[in-house]
Amino acid sequence: MSLELSVVVLAAGMGTRMKSALPKVMHKVAGKPMVGHVIDTAAHLKAAKTMVVVGPDMPDLIKTVAPHPTFEQTDRLGTAHAVLAAKDGLKGLTGNVLVLYADSPLFTAETLARLVAAREENDHAVAVLGFRPEDPTGYGRLVTDQNGNLTAIVEDKECNDAQRQINFCNSGVMCFKAEDMIATLEAIDNANAKGEYYLTDAVEVAQKNGQSCVAVEVDEAETLGVNSRTQLAVAEGILQDRLREQAMVDGATLIDPASVFFSADTKLGRDVIVEPNVVFGPGVVVGDNTVIKAFSHLESCVVGEGADIGPYARLRPGAEIGAGARVGNFVEIKKAVVEDGAKVNHLSYIGDARVGAKANIGAGTITCNYDGFRKQHTDIGAGAFIGSNSSLVAPVEIGDGAIVGAGSTITGKVEADALTLTRAERIEKKGWAAKFREKMSQLTGKK
Ligand code: UD1
Ligand code: MG
Repeated sequence: MSLELSVVVLAAGMGTRMKSALPKVMHKVAGKPMVGHVIDTAAHLKAAKTMVVVGPDMPDLIKTVAPHPTFEQTDRLGTAHAVLAAKDGLKGLTGNVLVLYADSPLFTAETLARLVAAREENDHAVAVLGFRPEDPTGYGRLVTDQNGNLTAIVEDKECNDAQRQINFCNSGVMCFKAEDMIATLEAIDNANAKGEYYLTDAVEVAQKNGQSCVAVEVDEAETLGVNSRTQLAVAEGILQDRLREQAMVDGATLIDPASVFFSADTKLGRDVIVEPNVVFGPGVVVGDNTVIKAFSHLESCVVGEGADIGPYARLRPGAEIGAGARVGNFVEIKKAVVEDGAKVNHLSYIGDARVGAKANIGAGTITCNYDGFRKQHTDIGAGAFIGSNSSLVAPVEIGDGAIVGAGSTITGKVEADALTLTRAERIEKKGWAAKFREKMSQLTGKK
């Protein structure tokens, strides 16, 4: 594949079977809207131009695909009509134009490159990606001659009995010779069972013009189109398997791959160990030699080299964990930098904060970052020691090397290397408990 490539993504359908207020292609798999996966694949193919055909009233979709241009298909008159909605964007293009469905997020860039290369090879008018399902019902059938040339695509509703037996089917992905595409599509009519402008009729039009077409086969697993929540879950499963496999190929150990969930953009370093039941939301970058222990949940965060996370840790957006730092069980970190070698080992909330290098945050420490109106900052200096069960009421600043006594409530500023503690005076009444028990057992008759 060497000529220029442009991509048209069809995303006009609302997807009524999803029973959703969201346009179908905005539903996410591996943490990213389906349409985003398709656009990423186009980017992998180095598409010079990617255009998206949207339906009426889909402002969020338009925002999601920006800066790629969108074209509105107001009435749904068929797939050829949908592609022609982008006619202004197709004018003057050269090379290849690939048509993709935004509800089919599993096609790989390698497969699409193979299709484009096949179209270029004999300067075919159209190349179609075909597959062989067990049950071809509902799909357009690919009719080929003895030489393997594609001579027609016959939609399910238009098939005669012999054609209905063909199990080589149109996946929906088609690649066009850019220079002829508009003329080809404009020659398509809607004289058929559904009264639609079928994109698939492009093959017949090309034949009439003395041009050739070709079909390329792909594994059925890549062709899945999502029309329902059930199919959304199937697509999720396939993508997760791919992401797990890729993580292992890239040098991470997944002890129980099937229980680890990735986002499409998760980045793991080398020699990362991921224990069972870990979820990576969008935007996570993990450095080399880290361990992410069981039942941890990470999103939009960075984990430095050699850090040790979990079990049961929650890293929320804006958490930046330094090299060799330790975030232990039942610790939640949000929008906070935990510098190199610092430890937050147990039962803490650290939000809107900096924890200096090698500081130690005792069990149960809470940064009180919110007063009901504003989020305020907590700054903990390098080497500071915060005693267990302390509340740091932001804005608050703990100097380098300072010690905060256990159970303290701290506001304002603590000097470097100082000891600070707030504690109620201790009351002790000798023998009180024993007397209390005796009195109560007389009163109630209970021992
Ligand atoms: C289409 C193909 C069929 C193929 C099948 C694979 C045609 C005529 N048929 O059939 O050969 O086997 O996909 O799944 O192309 N769309 C629009 N605007 C429209 C119509 C459709 O944007 O006016 C979009 C849909 O949202 C969908 C895609 O195009 O994402 C395919 O449309 P759909 O109605 O599902 O076509 P099929 O009948 O399944
Ligand atoms: Mg369909």
